Amino acid sequence: MAFDIEMIEKVYANMASRVDKARELVGRPLTLSEKILYSHLWEGTPSHAFTRGKDYVDFAPDRVACQDATAQMALLQFMHAGKNKVAVPTTVHCDHLIQAKVGAKTDLEVANTQSKEVFDFLSSVSNKYGIGFWKPGSGIIHQIVLENYAFPGGMMIGTDSHTVNAGGLGMLAIGVGGADAVDVMSGMSWELKFPKLIGVKLTGKLSGWTAPKDVILKVADILTVKGGTGAIVEYFGEGAESMSCTGKGTICNMGAEIGATTSTFGYDDSMRRYLAATGRQAVVNAADKVASYLTADAEVYANPEKYFDQLIEINLSELEPHINGPFTPDRGTPVSQMKAEAAANGWPIKVEWGLIGSCTNSSYEDMSRAASIVEQAVAHGITPKAEFGINPGSEQIRYTIERDGIIATFEKLGTKVFTNACGPCIGQWDREGADKQEKNTIVHSFNRNFSKRADGNPNTHAFVTSPEMVAAIAISGRLDFNPITDSLINDKGEEVKLVAPTGDELPKRGFDVEDAGFQAPAADGSSVEVVVSPTSDRLQLLAPFTPWDGKNITGAKLLIKAFGKCTTDHISMAGPWLRFRGHLDNISNNMLIGAENAFNGRANAVKNQLTGEYAEVPAVQRAYKAAGVSSVVVGDHNYGEGSSREHAAMEPRFLGVKAVLVKSFARIHETNLKKQGMLALTFANETDYDKIQEDDTINFLDLTEFAPGKPLTLEFVHTDGSKDVIMANHTYNEGQIGWFVAGSALNLIAAGKA
Ligand code: F3S
Repeated sequence: MAFDIEMIEKVYANMASRVDKARELVGRPLTLSEKILYSHLWEGTPSHAFTRGKDYVDFAPDRVACQDATAQMALLQFMHAGKNKVAVPTTVHCDHLIQAKVGAKTDLEVANTQSKEVFDFLSSVSNKYGIGFWKPGSGIIHQIVLENYAFPGGMMIGTDSHTVNAGGLGMLAIGVGGADAVDVMSGMSWELKFPKLIGVKLTGKLSGWTAPKDVILKVADILTVKGGTGAIVEYFGEGAESMSCTGKGTICNMGAEIGATTSTFGYDDSMRRYLAATGRQAVVNAADKVASYLTADAEVYANPEKYFDQLIEINLSELEPHINGPFTPDRGTPVSQMKAEAAANGWPIKVEWGLIGSCTNSSYEDMSRAASIVEQAVAHGITPKAEFGINPGSEQIRYTIERDGIIATFEKLGTKVFTNACGPCIGQWDREGADKQEKNTIVHSFNRNFSKRADGNPNTHAFVTSPEMVAAIAISGRLDFNPITDSLINDKGEEVKLVAPTGDELPKRGFDVEDAGFQAPAADGSSVEVVVSPTSDRLQLLAPFTPWDGKNITGAKLLIKAFGKCTTDHISMAGPWLRFRGHLDNISNNMLIGAENAFNGRANAVKNQLTGEYAEVPAVQRAYKAAGVSSVVVGDHNYGEGSSREHAAMEPRFLGVKAVLVKSFARIHETNLKKQGMLALTFANETDYDKIQEDDTINFLDLTEFAPGKPLTLEFVHTDGSKDVIMANHTYNEGQIGWFVAGSALNLIAAGKA
């Protein structure tokens, strides 16, 4: 469990020289984000300045974290990298595969039975390759990272979009796909477009009912769900310094909801307090020595409009509690306006559930402030009108809040204490009656509130707000309850007013835990056996993809010409398929089933050219594979947008598709295809898309001359014997062509050539 102080000291030892050099190259004062980026270049000391929003840059992250759903394929791939051990400190966290239903103890037992083989696999592979393993029930990945591993000025990647939470401790922490994590675990660089920078200046001070959550709810309202795309959000100002470290984590966490690459704060006393309270005084001592490098240059925050691409200013003293939703986290309503908004929009006023927790808001401070509201309800004899559920962020928090009587306070209101895991936040909530799909309202302190996310019911109106507001609203049972102005009626019929929440930033008696749920890896993992049952339908060991045979691809069939939007969800659906994330053969049965066939406007119905019959896309592709026939997928614009999930590239590769030819790619998917040894090509002339016919056979004419910057020539032979020869562009560099030749990037790593 121990944080890696040697690694941290090494990062700090390089910081001054690298940042000073970067300042000289850039020719102006630097923001904190730039300092962290420039001190983590793969090349080491910077040799030139980069252009924000334009240059692709290779970085060397300090850490990797994976959650149980995404770790399966990442680790299955890593096993092929030919390494004895991960190249950078890495942890795996079991938090997504635990359903919330009855309560922590029973739910955890059920998960340990149902997903036993997955947990056993993750545990054994972690043990073998030097990876720290956090068992089911140990807590939610981002809370554990904040408690144990995040450090000011560091850079980490994680296979979960809310990895950004670690910005609360002054890190640049970024969510990535499994393939990127595998690269870094294998000792390779990680590429990112040098981000743009959004500055958020926080003036004033939070007070009363307003919490750090309201800062990000307000920012989301201003920037919308797309406003942060391609940018790092850097918070600063007196308001930032006055907030707790975990509060900062909450703000950074929900940076994912505005599409930001990540968010961060400069090193300050709140971080010192948090690091010390979580047993990391050694990190404070090390960070203090380079403190000026762990925040922006003074001139930047004095004249921020000169240094950020966009600047937002929020006065915390004037900020109202916000309630965002329903169905999207960027629809913000200040509490004083909720009565009018709810009535105007017909949102159900009666609140059925209040849920506190998730990686966003499950700190000691969150729990203690929410409990102070619950305590008042108990003292005043108010029976809560809605049901309550809490998910503590970690076993350390659960143990400590139990010791301090906070859980007992919640239980006085009949609160269900769920496992220290994601639970309802990832739809792992077996909510009674959800299948009836009734229109209803819930409030929660999570980050996402898209339709169906919490309980699968599209008619559940989920609203996001702070834990203390969740408590007040759930007690009142009304979405339009404003605790600042409204009163409640207690069981004796008396009018009662709640006073503003109070709580402790950190436990007065310190954190405590009996068994944190951590498994340290074996010092020498060479004799550890990785546990995968050959009969499992959820896990399957991977075999290396076959290398290119050096010949032109000929006689390939068109599998599908996809029309319009084709996201990674269309290519590899989520939902029930999540179960097969660790079994490439089984999950391949969802390949492209959401894509629209340009020839008949239908999804999952393509012509099998060998039989002339229409069938499901995976079935047709399996028929081609069985017959030893290659195939090609054709697509439209921005093919593969959406998530960075590598399954969308691995499935076609596994089933024998050779090339994907589209009008344009979403960049991450294009890279994922390259990494898996596929040909990712774009029409040199977009109108050639219209020439592709349903029964086409495709021949590559000059693949044998595959070279950087040289387009490929493809011949499309139509059923009437006529042909169209079209040019296909590509963006492969020399190294990436090596991936194609070797069969995949991993094959090359395993051969020791990458
Ligand atoms: Fe888990 Fe929800 Fe966070 S799914 S990682 S608690 S966003």
